[in-house]
Amino acid sequence: MAAGAGGWLDSHRAAYGGMRVCVTGGAGFIGSHLVEALDALGAQVTVIDDLCNGFRESLAGRSGRVRLIEGSVLDADAMSRAAEGASVIFHLAALGSVPRSVEEPMRYHRVNVDGTLAVLEVARRTGARVSYSASSSAYGDTPTLPKVETMRNDPRSPYAVTKLAGEEYGRAYALCYDVAFVGLRYFNIFGPRQREDSQYAAVIPRWAAAIRAGRKPLVYGDGSQTRDFTHVHNAVHANLLAGRATGTLEGETVNIGCGEKYSLLELLAQMNGVLGTSATPDFQPPRAGDVKDSLAAIDAAKRLIGYAPVVTFADGLRSTLLG
Ligand SMILES: NC(=O)c1ccc[n+]([C@@H]2O[C@H](COP(=O)([O-])OP(=O)(O)OC[C@H]3O[C@@H](n4cnc5c(N)ncnc54)[C@H](O)[C@@H]3O)[C@@H](O)[C@H]2O)c1
Repeated sequence: MAAGAGGWLDSHRAAYGGMRVCVTGGAGFIGSHLVEALDALGAQVTVIDDLCNGFRESLAGRSGRVRLIEGSVLDADAMSRAAEGASVIFHLAALGSVPRSVEEPMRYHRVNVDGTLAVLEVARRTGARVSYSASSSAYGDTPTLPKVETMRNDPRSPYAVTKLAGEEYGRAYALCYDVAFVGLRYFNIFGPRQREDSQYAAVIPRWAAAIRAGRKPLVYGDGSQTRDFTHVHNAVHANLLAGRATGTLEGETVNIGCGEKYSLLELLAQMNGVLGTSATPDFQPPRAGDVKDSLAAIDAAKRLIGYAPVVTFADGLRSTLLG
């Protein structure tokens, strides 16, 4: 594994060596990094992914302990086979585009809400623990920083509603059926294998491509907007912690970020530093609906699952751009 893997990964070895686990959406961006880590830890990993936005090649190089079931979490048979014998289901499968969710709310509901219910039903039957990929989009565009889990939710798109519904169902299954469930609200995850058309920290792969092609990176607004850019290994670490947390779990959802914010202009300066370039921004009018600032409070994640970031923004950016 790249980007500073080592101590943090080894800290999970005793828990996951030989463990059977299921990763939904494991051929996607974050899922494929989680599968890589689980494989390196010696786990027996079954991935279920319908490859609608994932790639078989993202699993290339994995050991024989990793198998892919090409199918949907909505297919009860395929989902049952994928979770057979699994102690933990890492549930990452989802449709992820906010604008597309506005065009196709029913499809997003089916995959993201019904799909999560299908996963929870399997967990209810088998006793598997569920680590659920939630989204900071639940907070909407509140100006209050940092964003804390106790704030009122303000989902502003069908996508955000579906991700929040998954959290709420997880909590209900924890309370009604004792399913051990942890939701992880990711903040702007970035890293290798992230596509330029991805929703979240896509500014990084997009600007990298522009700078390398000698074009000016597009900046919507004045570039002072800030984000809690979080390297993907932090999301992987959070999942591994959630999959083996020992405290009482009652369906809580916690923020996963770095707890630091950087402006887009700071990001560009750092990218120029890493790439040895001096690209200047191509300023464009602000985009409607863009959140001005985003920053995670990560105290609850620390309390519940012992989470602290393992890769800094600067190190993560360097390994993503140069790795
Ligand atoms: N990337 C981020 O910054 C971010 C932020 C907040 C939340 N999330 C959540 O994290 C999870 C992973 O995101 P990602 O960025 O890796 O996205 P991704 O699109 O790369 O990965 C999702 C994977 O799920 C698969 N999938 C979709 N529908 C499926 C279905 N019905 N059955 C089986 N597989 C299906 C896709 O083919 C894809 O491989 C998602 O749940 C997303 O909502 C991501």
